[in-house]
Amino acid sequence: MLSFFLQYNELEPIKQRVLLEEIQWGLNSPYKYYFLFLLNHEKDASAAHFWNSQSTAMKEIFEEEITMNLTSTMVTTPEEADAKLMLALTSIDVIIEEWESMTVKIKERALQRREILKSDFIDLSKHISDQNRGISLKINPAPPSGLKTIKLPEPNTAKIIEPSIAECIKKRKSHRSYSTAAIPLSTLSFLLWATQGVHRISPNQVNSIRTVPSGGARHPFETWIVIQRVEGAEPGIWKYSPFTHEIVLTKRYPDLNDLGEKLFNASLEQLWVRTAAITFFWTCIPYRCEWRYSSGASKLILQESGHICQNLYLACEATGCGTVAISAYHQELSDSLLGVDGHEELTVYIAPVGVRK
Ligand SMILES: Cc1cc2nc3c(=O)[nH]c(=O)nc-3n(C[C@H](O)[C@H](O)[C@H](O)COP(=O)(O)O)c2cc1C
Repeated sequence: MLSFFLQYNELEPIKQRVLLEEIQWGLNSPYKYYFLFLLNHEKDASAAHFWNSQSTAMKEIFEEEITMNLTSTMVTTPEEADAKLMLALTSIDVIIEEWESMTVKIKERALQRREILKSDFIDLSKHISDQNRGISLKINPAPPSGLKTIKLPEPNTAKIIEPSIAECIKKRKSHRSYSTAAIPLSTLSFLLWATQGVHRISPNQVNSIRTVPSGGARHPFETWIVIQRVEGAEPGIWKYSPFTHEIVLTKRYPDLNDLGEKLFNASLEQLWVRTAAITFFWTCIPYRCEWRYSSGASKLILQESGHICQNLYLACEATGCGTVAISAYHQELSDSLLGVDGHEELTVYIAPVGVRK
């Protein structure tokens, strides 16, 4: 059973690294979890050595995965898992070859994608945009009609357990495991207000001022919340209507297993998303921002998503909840879960939320 580890430890570092990645991301879940289990098996010296060489952050991630999966049905028998790991070990040279050719392609792609990091602002008076061309784009504050709607309680009715902003900033951290408790509607109201709450709409109905900043007050985001456990709101996909402070049910999911499975797949098998009471999916409607900033919009959108998520972290800290920012998600599965087209509206960021343990 430990043959894999003995061979693993004799490999040169590059091969160990490749194999670890292969197991972490390339193998099916059962082998991954079995491998993680072995890593934590302190009686085994080679496993312990490997464990000790991991960074604190990686250990925390492993530990959470291990805790949540040891008893899960996804763990196969040790013999079966060991056999699969040995197979990966024998094909390591092929894997490395594939890695090398992929590395060249990925580096080229990374270089192309760097462009988005640059400022695309030129003299604003000469800027060609639909706004400058006089095309009108007004806010429609009404929620989608004909769907079940819940008027949220006032955000200030939420129970605040940490009122100090300094303490919230100090204590903020990523949480990847949650209690099974349901989240009160008043807490959900506070979290939605903190991330996208509207103070006012400009008199010409073009811009809005909210709890988070946005370049040109364009606010290109929509907030979708996938509810698994919220008091008074049935499981399913809901959309936040920021101008009326309501949530609107866009798809019922009476079968929580089905919903959990979809969340798990959309988040590239991150268990904290499967088990969260609520998962925030922020989509963007790029044109809202392109209307003013044309090709410079993409950079702004990504910058702004960070403001929203940081507010979620702080609001969670204040209300006894926990969250973690998620960028590693499957684009098409996330978009199709919400029912957005992936072009005019697309997922940009995800954050599961649960009551802190
Ligand atoms: C943009 C961004 C993307 C992230 N994506 C993920 C993710 O997909 N999965 C995950 O578990 N953590 C993710 N994280 C959380 C980071 O791993 C975490 O912030 C980091 O380890 C530091 O820990 P801390 O937040 O507790 O300070 C992400 C964080 C950021 C800011």
